Amino acid sequence: MPGLTDESPQGRRIAAIALGKRGGPGAVAALRAALAREEVLWVRPSMILALGKIGDDDARAALADVEPRSEAESEALRKARDRVSAPATGFAWRSDATVERLFASVPFGLEDVAIAEAAERQIEATLVRRGVIALRAPLPGLRNALRCAYDVRFLIAEGAPGAFSETIAKARVPWREWIRSESDALPYRFSLENVRVTRQQFSDVLRLARETFAPLGLIDSPSNYAAMLRVEADADATRIWFVPTFEPDERFAYRLADVGASINPVVGACLARLVRGKASHVVVDPTCGSGTLLIERALLDSDVILSGIDISPTAIRAATGNVIAAKLASRIAIRQADGGDSAAWPGRCDEVLANLPFGNRTEDRNLDGLYRRVVGNIGRTLAPGGRALLYTAHTKTLIALLRRTPQLAVREERRVESGGLQVGLWLLVKASDRR
Ligand SMILES: C[S@@+](CC[C@H](N)C(=O)[O-])C[C@H]1O[C@@H](n2cnc3c(N)ncnc32)[C@H](O)[C@@H]1O
Repeated sequence: MPGLTDESPQGRRIAAIALGKRGGPGAVAALRAALAREEVLWVRPSMILALGKIGDDDARAALADVEPRSEAESEALRKARDRVSAPATGFAWRSDATVERLFASVPFGLEDVAIAEAAERQIEATLVRRGVIALRAPLPGLRNALRCAYDVRFLIAEGAPGAFSETIAKARVPWREWIRSESDALPYRFSLENVRVTRQQFSDVLRLARETFAPLGLIDSPSNYAAMLRVEADADATRIWFVPTFEPDERFAYRLADVGASINPVVGACLARLVRGKASHVVVDPTCGSGTLLIERALLDSDVILSGIDISPTAIRAATGNVIAAKLASRIAIRQADGGDSAAWPGRCDEVLANLPFGNRTEDRNLDGLYRRVVGNIGRTLAPGGRALLYTAHTKTLIALLRRTPQLAVREERRVESGGLQVGLWLLVKASDRR
C-alpha cells in the first residue's frame, strides 16, 4: 500500500480513505502499521475511520488498541468503534411499565385518521398538536399496532425555542422503568431536527447530550442503537423525544421494492383508511407505483378485490413483488397500462385511490392530459355513492378539473405534509344516479 508511506500528509490521508473503502487482504495490517508510524495529527483520524469502515474482526482488534492523541482522534475512534460494535439486542418492554407522556408522531394533516385507527385498536388517543397525538396504552406491541403513526415516543424534556442546551440539561429519561435490558446500558442515536446549525454548534450540543445522558446509562452509538434521542426545534418550543427502536418494525415488511416517488407507507395507511367506504368491493389505483396504497387498503377489509395499473415496467415489477410478499396476490391484480386508458379499468368500481404523478419526472409529460383522462375514468366507472381519493402536489390542474366534473362531489379537501412537501388530498363522492 505505497500511498500510506507517501511523503505528503495529504497523500497518506487520501490513501487511508481509499483503502478503507476498498478493504481486501492486508488492508487492516497496512493501516495498523501506518497508524503506528503516523505523527501528523490531522491524518490519524482518517486512518482510524478507515479501520472502522473495513469493520471486520481484525479491524475491531486494531481499534481496541488505539490510544487517541487529540479530540478529533477521540471522535474518530468513537465513530469507528461504534461502526464495528455489535447490533443493539437484548431489549424488551417491561410488562409492568406505567408511562406518562407517551406520544406518537403522525403525518401532518392526517392526525384524525391516526386517532381513529388507535380507537379501533382500543387505544386511547388524543390530539396534542399538528403531527403529534398522545397515547394511553400498554407498551408491548404498540409500535406494530399503529400503521398510521411514524413512531411511538416519550417526551423527555421541553424548553424554549432554540434553547437546546438548557432543554437537554433538564431532560429526565427513566428508561429502565420502561425497558428491560440484558446489559445495564442503552445505546442511542442522537439527532438535532428541524434546524440548521454549524458543525461546531452541533458538536457542542452533542457533547452536552453525551455528558447528560451517560450517567443515566445511555450511550451515544449512532450505528447500533436501541432508541433515538431526537432534539426537535419546533417554532413554539424545543422538545426532546426518546424514540425506542429496538422492537422490529414489521408493519411494512412487504415493501421489498419502491419506485422513486413511492408514498411513505404510513401516509399510505392513512389514505387507505380515509377513502374506505362501508360497502366497497372493487378498488382501483390507476397509478399504483409500488402498490403500497393497494396493499394498505386490502389489509383493511378481507372482502375487497383490487386492481392496480401503472405505465412503468419498473413499477409493475415492484408492485408485483410487494403484493406477493404481502400474500395478497389472490386479491390484488397488477397490470401494465396507461391509467388514462379506459380499457385498462374494470367496468365498475366502488373506490379509487390514487397518488397521481406530481410532474417531477421526465416520464410525467402531459400530466394535465393524464389527470383529465383519469378523472374521466373515475366519473365513468365509479358506482353511485362510490368514493375516490386523489393525492397530488400538482393541485391547480386537479382543482380546475374537479370544477368541471360535477358528478364527483368534493367531500373533503386537505393539505398534508410528507417528506417536507405540501400535498393536496381530495376525497370525492360520486353523485347518486337517482334524482
Ligand atoms: C407518485 S407515483 C405513485 C407512487 C405509489 N403510490 C407508491 O407508493 O409507490 C406515480 C406513478 O404514476 C405512474 N404513471 C405515470 N404516468 C402514468 C400513466 N399514464 N398511467 C399509469 N401510471 C402512470 C408512475 O410510473 C408512478 O409509478
